[in-house]
Parts: sequence; C-alpha cells; structure tokens
Amino acid sequence: MTTDKRDDRLTARGGSVQGTVQVAGDKSISHRAIMIGALADGVTRVEGFLAGEDCLATLAAFRSMGVRIEGPDAGRVTIHGVGREGLRAPEAPLDMGNSGTSMRLLAGLLAAQPFPSELTGDESLRRRPMGRVVSPLTSMGGQVAALGEEGRPPLRISPVGSLKGINYELPVASAQVKSAILLAGLYADGETCVTEPAPTRDHTERMLSAFGYPVRREGSRACLQGGARVQAADLSIPGDLSSAAFFLVAAAMVPGSDLLLEGVGINPTRRGALDILLAMGAHIELQNERTHGGEPVADLRVRGGELRGIEIPSHLVPLAIDEFPAIFVAAAAAEGRTVLRDAAELRVKESDRIQTMADGLQALGIAAVPLEDGLVIDGGPISGGRVDAHGDHRVAMAFAVASIAASGPISISGAAAIRTSFPDFLEVARAVGLRIEAENE
Ligand code: S3P
Repeated sequence: MTTDKRDDRLTARGGSVQGTVQVAGDKSISHRAIMIGALADGVTRVEGFLAGEDCLATLAAFRSMGVRIEGPDAGRVTIHGVGREGLRAPEAPLDMGNSGTSMRLLAGLLAAQPFPSELTGDESLRRRPMGRVVSPLTSMGGQVAALGEEGRPPLRISPVGSLKGINYELPVASAQVKSAILLAGLYADGETCVTEPAPTRDHTERMLSAFGYPVRREGSRACLQGGARVQAADLSIPGDLSSAAFFLVAAAMVPGSDLLLEGVGINPTRRGALDILLAMGAHIELQNERTHGGEPVADLRVRGGELRGIEIPSHLVPLAIDEFPAIFVAAAAAEGRTVLRDAAELRVKESDRIQTMADGLQALGIAAVPLEDGLVIDGGPISGGRVDAHGDHRVAMAFAVASIAASGPISISGAAAIRTSFPDFLEVARAVGLRIEAENE
C-alpha cells in the first residue's frame, strides 16, 4: 500500500519542545467506529477520525462491501450503516495494507457473513501471526484458513450456516483477538465470552455499549449475546495516546521543555505509558479530565526534567504495548538502567520492535541488549547516526524524537510508514519546535 517513498528517509536535527498541540485521532477507536458504524441501523457521524493509511484500509474495505461512507474531511466521517445483515460480498480480496487491527477484527466479522472473502496485506502484515484469530473462530464453527506459512496471511474466509457462542480464554493478552471473537459473537448463537490473562484495551466493548449493544463485563471477562441490533451513534474520537507518547517523551527528557497535548485519550487499559514515564520521574499532569463518546480524555501537560531508569512492572506491559519504541528512547536518555521483560509480543508487531529498537539505539551509542522477551537499556549520551526503522511507523517516530536528546542529527530510513498512524506527524513535530526534514521535500 505504501508505494510513495518521498518521505521514506527523514533527518531529525533536534530542536525544542514547546507549545500546545493536538495529536492525531485514536487509531484503535477510528477502526472500530467504521466497523461498528457500518453494522448499525442508521447514520453514524464521527469527529476526530484518524485519516491514516491503516484506518483508510478499514474504510475502503467497508466501502467495497457496499457501505456508503462520506469523508474523511478534516476528521469528519459519515457512515450510512447497512444494519447487521447488510454487508455485501466484496468483489476482490480486501487489502489491509500494514494494519493488523483491520485484518484481525475483520476476520472475526467476516467469519460470520454469508459470503466468502479474502484478506491480504503488505509484506509486514503478511509476516504477522494470524493463528491466534483462526483458532478461536474455528472453534466457533467459522471457516477461516491462513494461506501463508505457519498461520500467516492471506486469510480465506468461507461462509458457514451459523456460528456458535464460545467461552474463550485468550492465551496471549490481545485486544485484537478479543475484539475479533466479540465481533463474530454478534452473529453467534448464544453467548460469547472472552477471558483475558491481563487487561487489554477495551474500545470494542465500550463502543458496542455506546451503540446500544449490551456487553457484560465481569472482572477479566467480556460477554455478549448474539443476535441484538446495533444502533447508530455520534462519536467524537479522542487524540491517540500512542501518538502523543512521542511528544510526551520528547518533552519529558529535555529540561526546559513545556508542552500541552490537548484532548488525549487516557482509557485505563491504554495508559501504561503514562504510568511508566511517571515512574521514570517525568513531569506529566493530567488536566481537564472529561469523557468523550464513552472514553476518558484529558489534556496532558508535560515539562522537561531528569529521567531515571526503572524495572518496568510486568502488569503495565499490555497497557503500554504500542508505546515501547518511545519508552525505549526515554530509557536511553535516562540516568541508569531500564529493564523490560514479559514483552515478547513486541517481536511480532509491525517490525520486531525489540531488535529494530536495539539496533537503532546501538547505532546511536546506547548500550541496549535485546532479550528474548524484552530489552535492557543503560541510559547515556545519545549520539547522531543512521538508523533503519524497517518500515515501522512507531520506530521511525521514536528515533525522530530521540534527536531532541542527541548530540548530532539522526538519519532514519524506512520511515514512510509514519503515514499509517500519524500522517501529520511532521507538521505537529515542527509546530512544537523539532527540526525534521524529509528527503526530497
Ligand atoms: C490494537 C491492539 C494491540 C495494538 C494494536 C492495536 C487494537 O494489538 O498493538 O496497535 O486496536 O485492538 P494486540 O491486541 O495484538 O496486542
């Protein structure tokens, strides 16, 4: 999907971090708004939609299944819901680009449809494990085949008469797998319950509730009964804490910085990065806490100071799973050692984030030792240098903000994927005072 390579190489030259900005809309919530809005009866109006490539892949998939969607236009999207039985067979395989969320959640929804479909994606997505969704969907009676080696994409989905509810214990903490099962469960006979080994983001449960679909939550279990209808709702999507994390780190690690990030989602199942940075000594205040569309939101004020290395508590790992590239940069700038364990999931994200981050940090003169399930980083002086983001949006953005604490420019290749989750990253970065150039601009 990412064929335009104009900004595949960035050079970040540091700068300052000051001012007031808004970050891009939440990626996880934007995907779900399209999916659940499409299944609803009535018209759903969304504000704050993230027009990044990942969410646009979801949007295009629903258009090709007959859903009329207007926008995105300055974050506004209007979804003309077709109702729970209204999706039509797509004419061609659905291309999910780089987006694991699109592929896994859609696998659940499509397993329940009365038409065949196929899901594919870019090179990175075709390397990612899908057995974790294929297995529970098969137990529900679905026919989902992973056509790649060892349970990898593409996925071929064949229609079955009906699905049956399931009581599933997730072997890995994964909101994508939980959500795939719950979306299939909307169509299943009886009740579908998912129990998670540790809390993961609960946007699907919250959004279904906001759309009038009853979801029962008991401790670590989320349950729903198949067969009810979804009612259109208007939504305002908060800023993405995963995008804000790069600026939180940029500001927190340099004394003198002072930044206000407005309207950022602080859902308790997502706020691990805040808690980790606070434990590292970051000066972050939550201001003006409020609720938007069933999601907690705040303005985040962050001021620069000294950070210290910590042992990252295991229970925070699933709550900060997307923020580790940024947290590793904070660890590199911190005094002392930071140890992360129990985070093997990082190896199967858009890139192997343990290896890509360790390699990049080492190229910048930081002692970063990869472990099977984590990373040990000794903070120290960060030098300039050349790093490879391996087409991973969050790795690219992490190294761009690392330049704030570095003694020389950082040149980042494989950075075009930033458009998947934060298309206006460069504008926001420049607005707060970072000096970043994209090749051929
Ligand atoms: C997501 C869940 C997480 C996260 C991903 C988005 C979601 O993945 O890493 O970026 O929207 O449900 P896992 O649930 O596989 O950990």
